[in-house]
Amino acid sequence: MDYRNRTLVGNIVLTGATGVLGGRLLQEVLETTDAMVYCVVRAESPDAALERIKEVLFAYDEARTLDSQCWRIIPVLGDVSRERLGLDEASYLELAGSVDLVLHSAANVSLVASYAKIAPVNVGGVATMIEFCLAGSVPLMMVSSFSVTGSKLYEPGFVLGEHDLDVGQCFEEMDYERSKFEAEQLVHAASERGLDWVIVRPGNIWGDSRTGCYPLRQTRVKGLYYEMLKSLVETGLTFSSDEDFDISPVDYVARAALYAVMNLHVTNRRTFNLTHPHPINYDDIVAALRHYGYTIGLVDSTTYFEALQSGRLCRDGKPYRSTFTDLLSIFYDGSDIKEHARYDTSGIDALLADTDIRCHPCDAALIGRYLDYAVRTGFIVAPAQQGPLATLSESAVRGGGLMEQLYDADLSDMPAQPA
Ligand SMILES: NC(=O)c1ccc[n+]([C@@H]2O[C@H](COP(=O)([O-])OP(=O)(O)OC[C@H]3O[C@@H](n4cnc5c(N)ncnc54)[C@H](OP(=O)(O)O)[C@@H]3O)[C@@H](O)[C@H]2O)c1
Repeated sequence: MDYRNRTLVGNIVLTGATGVLGGRLLQEVLETTDAMVYCVVRAESPDAALERIKEVLFAYDEARTLDSQCWRIIPVLGDVSRERLGLDEASYLELAGSVDLVLHSAANVSLVASYAKIAPVNVGGVATMIEFCLAGSVPLMMVSSFSVTGSKLYEPGFVLGEHDLDVGQCFEEMDYERSKFEAEQLVHAASERGLDWVIVRPGNIWGDSRTGCYPLRQTRVKGLYYEMLKSLVETGLTFSSDEDFDISPVDYVARAALYAVMNLHVTNRRTFNLTHPHPINYDDIVAALRHYGYTIGLVDSTTYFEALQSGRLCRDGKPYRSTFTDLLSIFYDGSDIKEHARYDTSGIDALLADTDIRCHPCDAALIGRYLDYAVRTGFIVAPAQQGPLATLSESAVRGGGLMEQLYDADLSDMPAQPA
């Protein structure tokens, strides 16, 4: 198909609209197109679905400027892990036959759930959306992740090109990463059946770089990186690390992704790394927190992790635990393996060169904006309210352990924790 002539997109199917990225994609679509947006949501009723969609939308659009556009949101009660989205055949074919574009953002983003739990959504869901697109002869924008880099994350000097996919990486204990890799493979393979597509690979998605907004309370799984900020503030203690830390503002990801798929005459069957072109490192984030007014002390990383795992990181006389520290203690294995991978963004940079879509610099101003929002919404205390801070006790107060609802984890197949 010659997409140069397709300037109008009348009907869009969007998955994941109740999530961090999908909600911001919806805002972008409503602001920049006249399209009707069919949002595939798991819910009991269209009203319940619409309510959840709006909650996330208005977490971004706080002034509710899009209130008057909500008539263009049409909830479709569906589940991407089910055949035909769980729709009856007639409804499925009617929807497929009436849309112009599919934006697929839904996924299970758990970093600790088992492959068996993730794959039906992240791999099966992509297969479902491919069939849907082929049934309607419409293009697919699939949201993947920079984590397809798998074990190459730890290889010094490794750079993931935008055209790279199978680079010899492994996915041992990287089930989420593996699912995104396999999903990309499915999309590539569907080219043979005539599928037109764009794949985008965001890095760590943070809030809107212009407003600081992020649906901290509206999405089911809270942002891990905000949990990290919260833990740093609550404990006032961390370790030093010069490893790259990607910050991909959600507005950049949404705008760049939409631009890529709206320009299929030059982007068809291409993949774009939507990571930050100039990442900062963990120490810079800690420095930005201090700049904002928080006290953050340093201990060496071995001491920090050992204290965490043995329940010696204490606050108010009790072992300190949070989603972030629980995750850290799961992934820490005593080795000093470092993350090295970098991500080439030259394709997306060239594509966006003549637009005003830019990735905001990762500076203290950006992190300050994120902190302003987190403080304003009560997610993190203001610098003046920080404390009491954590200390490292001499002996274990109580063994570590795992949070039951940790990141939607299926803990039955988690490795046992060291004593
Ligand atoms: N967040 C990041 O830092 C990051 C980084 C790189 C890539 N990504 C990718 O970006 C995309 C969006 O992630 P996100 O951060 O927005 O995740 P999120 O906030 O957890 O949202 C996930 C969305 O998927 C929906 N969903 C899950 N299972 C579904 C199913 N079976 N059927 C229909 N909908 C389903 C969720 O619906 P419910 O609200 O009903 O659960 C939610 O709307 C994903 O593809 C993810 O892999 C995210």
